[in-house]
Amino acid sequence: MEKIGKIDIKYLAENFGTPLYVYDYDIIKNNYQRLKSAFDKYYPKNTIHYSVKANSNLNILKVFKDLDCGADCSSPFELFLADKAGFDKNKILYTGNYESIEDLKVAANFNVKINIDDINSFKRLIKIKHPEIISFRINPGIGRGGFEGIVTAGSDAKFGVPYEQAFEAYKLALDSGVKRFGIHMMTGSNNLEPYYFAEVVDKLLTIAGNIFTKLKIAPEYIDIGGGFGIPYDDDEEELNIEETARLVSEVLIEKSKKYHFDEPELKMEPGRYLIGNAGYLISKVTGIKNSYKRFIGIDAGMNVLIRPALYGARHRIKIYGKNDRKNFYYVCGQICENSDIMASHIYLPEVEEGDLAIILDVGAYGFSMSSNYNNRLRPAEILIKDEKAHLIRARETYEDILRLMNLD
Ligand SMILES: Cc1ncc(COP(=O)(O)O)c(C=O)c1O
Repeated sequence: MEKIGKIDIKYLAENFGTPLYVYDYDIIKNNYQRLKSAFDKYYPKNTIHYSVKANSNLNILKVFKDLDCGADCSSPFELFLADKAGFDKNKILYTGNYESIEDLKVAANFNVKINIDDINSFKRLIKIKHPEIISFRINPGIGRGGFEGIVTAGSDAKFGVPYEQAFEAYKLALDSGVKRFGIHMMTGSNNLEPYYFAEVVDKLLTIAGNIFTKLKIAPEYIDIGGGFGIPYDDDEEELNIEETARLVSEVLIEKSKKYHFDEPELKMEPGRYLIGNAGYLISKVTGIKNSYKRFIGIDAGMNVLIRPALYGARHRIKIYGKNDRKNFYYVCGQICENSDIMASHIYLPEVEEGDLAIILDVGAYGFSMSSNYNNRLRPAEILIKDEKAHLIRARETYEDILRLMNLD
C-alpha cells in the first residue's frame, strides 16, 4: 500500500510524523450518499444523524453537516461540538445513558430531541424542563453485534428501558403532559446481515404498536440507532445496504398500516458505516523482537487505537511499499500492558525497523477512544480532500497536557 487518496503515505509520515490518523473525504462522502440513497429509494421520510462519538473532530463534523446530515450526540460536549460545526438544532439528537442532571440541563437548553435511556432519567428531566417531545430508548430484549463487546441490547446490556417497562415509561410521559413521541433503540454495532435489521425493527415496532395503541398516541419518529457494519477482513462481505433499506422499509410500512400510524419519520444514527473505512492509521515500526513469538513493535499502541486491546477487534495492517505476506507476526504497541497487541497471528511481508505500518478501517472509534496512557501524546489528524492533505488536528504537545496540571 502506497497511497491514501492520491497522497503518498511516506510523504504524510515525513511531513506530519507518526502515529498519524488520515481520513479520506471521498470515501466518507460516498458512504453517506450510498446509505442515504438506499433509504431514500424505499422510505424517503428518513434522516441520518451521524453518531458524533465515532469521530468528533470538528472538521469531520463539518463534512457531515455540509452533506446535509444530522448529528447524534452522547454528551454535553458533543452537543457543543455539533452546534459549533453548524448543525441545525432540528437535526441534532441527544442519546445518553444514565444521564446526570447536568447532562440533561445542557440537552434541554440546546432544545434538541432526546432519546432518554431510563424512566428515572425522564423523571430527572421533567424537573429541569418539560420536553415537547420525548423518545425512550427501548431495550427490545434482543441485541447483536460484530462481537460480544459491541452488543448493546438484550438481558446483559446496561442500555435502555426493558421492553416490559416501556408501557409504564410512555404512560408516565403522557400523564405528565408530553404530547409528541418518538421511540428509539440501538441494539449493537457492526452488523453485516440485512435480515437482522428487519428483525429488530419489527420487534421495536411491535412493542411500539401495542403500547401506543393502548395509550392512543402515535410515534412521530422511529429511531433504529446505528449498527450498520463494515468488513474488517478480506474475507468478510459488505453489508448489502440496499437490501437492508428495502427490508427495514417494508417492515415500517407494514407495521404502520397494522397499527394505524401515519408513517413515522425513520431516524438512523450510524457512525462506523459512514467513516470507519475512510480512516487509516500510519505508524512506524520501532523494533522487531524475536522472542517466544515474533513481535513487531509500532509507535501506535492501545493509547492510539484501543479497539483490539479493549475487545479483541481485528484490523488489517499493510506495510508501505511491500505487498507479499510471507511472515507470521504479532504486532504490538509500546504501552506497558501485555494486552497492547494490535494484531496477532498476522501474515506480513519481511518487516524492518523504520517501515511504515498502516492500520486500516480506523475512522470510527479510533482517535475518539484514544488516551494519554503511559504519557504518550495523542496523534495528529489529517483530512485528505481535493487531493490535498489538511491538518485537522495538531499533534498533542507536553504543554497541552501540563496546562491542566497544577503544581503549587
Ligand atoms: C446510541 C448510539 N447510536 C449510534 C451509535 C453508532 O453506532 P455504529 O457506529 O455502530 O453505527 C452508537 C454506538 O455505540 C450508540 O451508542
